[in-house]
Amino acid sequence: MWQFAGSRANEVASQAKRRSCGQGSYRGTPSVVPEALRAGSVSRRSLVKRMKVALGVTGGIAAYKAAEIVRLLQDRAIRVQVIMTRSAQEFIRPLTFAALSGEKVITGMFAPGEEQAATTDSAKIDSANLDSAIEHIAVAQSIDALLVAPATADVLAHFAQGIASDFLTTLYLATTAPVVVAPAMNVNMWNHPATQANLEILRQRGVKVVEPGAGYLACGMTGSGRLAENEAIVTAVLEALGASQDLSGETVLVTAGPTREKIDPARYLTNRSSGRMGYAVAEAALRRGARVLLVSGPTALTPPAAAEVTRVESAEQMRDAVLNLLPQSTIVIKTAAVSDYRAKSIFGQKLKRKGPMVLELEPTADILKEISSRKQSQIIVGFAAETENVLENARQKLASKQLDAIVVNDVSREGVGFDSDRNQVTIITNDEVVDVPETTKWEVAQRVLDQAVRIRQRRKSPVKA
Ligand SMILES: Cc1cc2nc3c(=O)[nH]c(=O)nc-3n(C[C@H](O)[C@H](O)[C@H](O)COP(=O)(O)O)c2cc1C
Repeated sequence: MWQFAGSRANEVASQAKRRSCGQGSYRGTPSVVPEALRAGSVSRRSLVKRMKVALGVTGGIAAYKAAEIVRLLQDRAIRVQVIMTRSAQEFIRPLTFAALSGEKVITGMFAPGEEQAATTDSAKIDSANLDSAIEHIAVAQSIDALLVAPATADVLAHFAQGIASDFLTTLYLATTAPVVVAPAMNVNMWNHPATQANLEILRQRGVKVVEPGAGYLACGMTGSGRLAENEAIVTAVLEALGASQDLSGETVLVTAGPTREKIDPARYLTNRSSGRMGYAVAEAALRRGARVLLVSGPTALTPPAAAEVTRVESAEQMRDAVLNLLPQSTIVIKTAAVSDYRAKSIFGQKLKRKGPMVLELEPTADILKEISSRKQSQIIVGFAAETENVLENARQKLASKQLDAIVVNDVSREGVGFDSDRNQVTIITNDEVVDVPETTKWEVAQRVLDQAVRIRQRRKSPVKA
């Protein structure tokens, strides 16, 4: 896929040899390993962007167990912002969470009266009011997940009905981050049709419910309603964050962005790829514990800090870099929109307008095909941007290039795919077809990696290439 970028060139293309016209051959730009990683002064994990979880604590006997959850999340390098309901503060003091989390604990929707009374400085009063007025929105936008543990029957009802009566219930409506709830209550409260109906509404909405266990309850009864084990709650949060370590031990080679094929010193052929899909895959793979080798065409994006980046321009450079890194990779995910054609001749001087011209093109190397012919045990995932016969073409590509999976998107649709934060894809493997309805590229990246993990599990082969 390609398009003409730059002003119109009007001179008839000469048949001059492309090498003599200025495009030197690519010797393989060494990948840029983050300095601290190379020096061994930091671990790869510490370079992965720290995630933040809002932990809502509500008014139940199990509120004290949330203190341990804070610690377990912090052990996984996750920042925790605790929000307590008024009732929760009857069971455990905010100070406990402030000391454990190292962050201010949010205990109410409005600036506390004492704070305002404690100063006569009107600027400070205004700023306190302003801070608290926008805090629920600021928190909503800054978190990667919202966890409520323990979740009372009351808070589940508020969430299900969209009643925003305090900070936590307002935050639930204001955030687009994934939500996990871990209910805990008396067995009759748990079994009540109202509670079960509210839970069903939340599940339908995509809220992850960590089911309570059965046993002896604090109220003296026996049955369901005990807060799930803390480890199970943390695992659910990690899954929601896409931060489970299921790619640990893998080296994921990701290609991203467009390529540029030179025409003359000022012009080139390129396409609309922004690189966002590949950068999302790279970031997601890092969070899931992989080492990531990112081969990137020209993009305006900042690569994830822990990725080892090789920057390329042309399809030929992309090919050389990928084949160079292939032996050390265990999974290859090719999201890059590599140009299918390049100018047969590259002009040494800027073309002048002299009337109509014909630009002669020649095909670039088929990188996927070359990878397939050289691969050992690597899992190879290709991306296909199609505008017609979308599924049929993708299936053909899966077979002809011996891929393990192909992710196909219809780039003729507006608002998804190229140059967008959203995508809608179908992932085709040899065993299944998974539709991923329109969502963020981050979510698509997670679903693609899920498939890579499933293929690995199915093969049950050692991780090494
Ligand atoms: C001693 C005591 C223990 C309670 N334990 C629970 C509980 O485990 N689960 C629950 O859903 N409600 C429990 N409640 C009731 C809640 O505290 C009550 O519904 C409250 O309104 C919840 O407020 P919140 O959801 O804003 O935190 C308990 C109440 C008391 C007095």
